Amino acid sequence: MDFTGKNVLITGASRGIGKATALAFAEKGAHVGLNFRSNTLEAERTLACLPGEGHQLFPKDLSKADNCKAVVNEFLSVYGTLEILVNNAGISIFHEIDSVDFETWTQAWEATFQTNLFAVANMSFWAAQTMMQKGGGRIVNVSSRGAFRGEPTKPAYGASKAALNAMSQSLAKKLAPHGIYVGVVAPGFTETEMAAKTLTPIERENLLRESPFQRMAQPKEVAHAILFLASDGAEYSSGTIIDVNGASYLRS
Ligand SMILES: NC(=O)c1ccc[n+]([C@@H]2O[C@H](COP(=O)([O-])OP(=O)(O)OC[C@H]3O[C@@H](n4cnc5c(N)ncnc54)[C@H](OP(=O)(O)O)[C@@H]3O)[C@@H](O)[C@H]2O)c1
Repeated sequence: MDFTGKNVLITGASRGIGKATALAFAEKGAHVGLNFRSNTLEAERTLACLPGEGHQLFPKDLSKADNCKAVVNEFLSVYGTLEILVNNAGISIFHEIDSVDFETWTQAWEATFQTNLFAVANMSFWAAQTMMQKGGGRIVNVSSRGAFRGEPTKPAYGASKAALNAMSQSLAKKLAPHGIYVGVVAPGFTETEMAAKTLTPIERENLLRESPFQRMAQPKEVAHAILFLASDGAEYSSGTIIDVNGASYLRS
């Protein structure tokens, strides 16, 4: 896969899967814009380790709708075009229905949907406007295995990712005639901070047993699937959801 000279914007790229994706695109010759919310130190470290030239940070909290327009405009003012958007930023919040109060419950739903769904819808809107003008582009959204198998401790997370899958498939149909191809990667547990924060040691042990690989995904394995969907030749895979879960949850 070759991305020489392509301008790529990755949300949530300070660490984890976003960082691995930024590295993978940079290794293949892309110019990478790295969005993140607030962790400037981590984002600067990530920027410093990218090979090649022309990479830049675009800090913005994308849960606020106006920031999505701003980050795409800032990206365009630097690079001129946006060829590939990777909507990776996401949050997961514990809010178990049998133990939280109503305020905690509603806050978790609102915060989760603002980042995991509405931000992706808004980023996709602004990206699509410029991609349609320039004759095409790629949007790759990072979903989760949790969209399919139920998330009893984080129901908003599972629901937001299921909605993200449905939205991505709607956009894949609508945007193909404009030369814009939309794909989804749905990882299982992946060795990142999100996974580390979410799991107790016993849960971790149990989760490792779910996969015949007896391990979690590495962020670069998820990045590999993201790059495939963004690559030349993957156009007809638009609308696809690629599982990267070590055969831990197989959909029919
Ligand atoms: N790790 C897993 O096991 C796993 C499994 C399935 C799916 N996923 C999905 O993969 C994606 C990445 O997960 P990860 O594990 O790499 O996460 P992570 O290590 O927690 O990193 C999250 C990234 O998203 C950014 N972010 C969070 N909220 C944001 C907002 N409102 N605006 C802009 N940036 C925001 C963070 O920025 P700051 O650094 O500034 O906070 C950070 O760069 C998520 O969509 C997640 O749901 C992860």
